[in-house]
Amino acid sequence: MPLSKNLDYSVVTISRDRLPETIAARTRRVYDVVSGVYPLSTYLFHSKAHRIALDVSGIRDGMRVLEAATGSGEMFRRLVRANQRGETVGFDLSPRMSAKTLRQVRNEYPRARAHCHAVDARYLPFPDETFDAVVCCYLLELLSTDDIFLALQEFHRVLRKRGTFTLVCIGQNADVFNRAYKVAGTLAPAFWGRQVEERVPQWLESCDFRVTAKREVRQGFYPSHVLSAIK
Ligand SMILES: C[S@@+](CC[C@H](N)C(=O)[O-])C[C@H]1O[C@@H](n2cnc3c(N)ncnc32)[C@H](O)[C@@H]1O
Repeated sequence: MPLSKNLDYSVVTISRDRLPETIAARTRRVYDVVSGVYPLSTYLFHSKAHRIALDVSGIRDGMRVLEAATGSGEMFRRLVRANQRGETVGFDLSPRMSAKTLRQVRNEYPRARAHCHAVDARYLPFPDETFDAVVCCYLLELLSTDDIFLALQEFHRVLRKRGTFTLVCIGQNADVFNRAYKVAGTLAPAFWGRQVEERVPQWLESCDFRVTAKREVRQGFYPSHVLSAIK
């Protein structure tokens, strides 16, 4: 779905939330700008959690798999590699990120059924119950609380009954890291967002997901949590 200038960037007034309003337009611009160098950050901080997320996702070759917010496509390529007889669809708000992801996957897996689009997680252009599995890594930090609910409801809608949802968030279990993240998030909210991991299981349950497992991962000083849920 193309981004429209008419999107409702509604204001959310939740006092403990460090993203009081939707900043999707800024996030899109920032991630467009960093798309060329972003693979380095994924390699340094996200690759271990990506590997574990794939291991626990229950994804088997032949499934219909959706990845939300692919970034520069490192997890997406893992998914396509694991699902070469199935169909793997990805999307990202940033057109440059999604184009880069599509280009690389076409080069590496020319015969795979894989597509990547520039789409907003809040408004997915897929029919109900299209996918067997949905994967989403490090997106919720960038969304306001209202937008998190819109996105989770969309993931729930496009997932088939008993389908799996695998979610990776930045962990909140390291004090020094948390303090540094708060500073970074204040300086550049559209890039860093804010940590939400502690609130996520409750949000998932209120969107009718059943959380089945939660794993802590650490890559150097960078903490992540991998959550598994079922519709
Ligand atoms: C922190 S990066 C994570 C990228 C990748 N998932 C990873 O694990 O490395 C967050 C990504 O979310 C995308 N994003 C932010 N808001 C979005 C939205 N509303 N819909 C879709 N993607 C969004 C950004 O463009 C960016 O590529």
